[in-house]
Amino acid sequence: MARFQFVVNGRSHTIESEADTPLLWVLRDQLGLKGTKYGCGVAQCGACTVHLNGRAVRACVQPIAAVAGQRVVTIEGLSGGGDHPLQQAWIEENVPQCGYCQTGQIMQAADLLSQHPHPSDDQIAEAMAGNLCRCGTYERIRRAIRRAARAPAKRSK
Ligand code: FES
Ligand code: FES
Repeated sequence: MARFQFVVNGRSHTIESEADTPLLWVLRDQLGLKGTKYGCGVAQCGACTVHLNGRAVRACVQPIAAVAGQRVVTIEGLSGGGDHPLQQAWIEENVPQCGYCQTGQIMQAADLLSQHPHPSDDQIAEAMAGNLCRCGTYERIRRAIRRAARAPAKRSK
C-alpha cells in the first residue's frame, strides 16, 4: 500500500491503495463516486470515462499511481447542479434508456465540445465511436450533442 494525492472535482484527496489499483475503483469504492460505471474493464466500452487534466480517459485502465498529483473530474463534478449544456440537452432529448452507459457518454461528449464547440457530424462520430450503448441510444446522443453545441450557456469541465 502507498499514499496517493490527487484532486477530484476540485477537492484534494489522499488515499491509500496499491499502486496498480485502477482509478475507477478508487473513485467508486474509496471516494463513493458511483456515477462512473464499470463496463468492460479493458478500455473497450467507455462506461468508465472521466476527465484527467481536462481530457477524456478510461478510468478502468488508469493505475492510481499514474494519476497522482493530477486533476480528475467525474460526472458528479461536471457542473454545479446538472446544468452543463450536455446534461440539459440529454434531458431535453430524453436520451437515456437503461442509463448505464450515459455518464461515460456525457463525459466523452464534454471533452469533444471543449475541443470543438461546434463539431461536425464526422467529429461527433469519431469522438463517440469508443462509447458503446447496448440500448442503442446513439441517434439521441448525437442529437443531444448537436443541441448542446447550439446552447449559449457556459461549459464547465
Ligand atoms: S469499463 Fe472502462 S472502458 Fe469499459
Ligand atoms: S442507455 Fe442502456 S447501455 Fe446505453
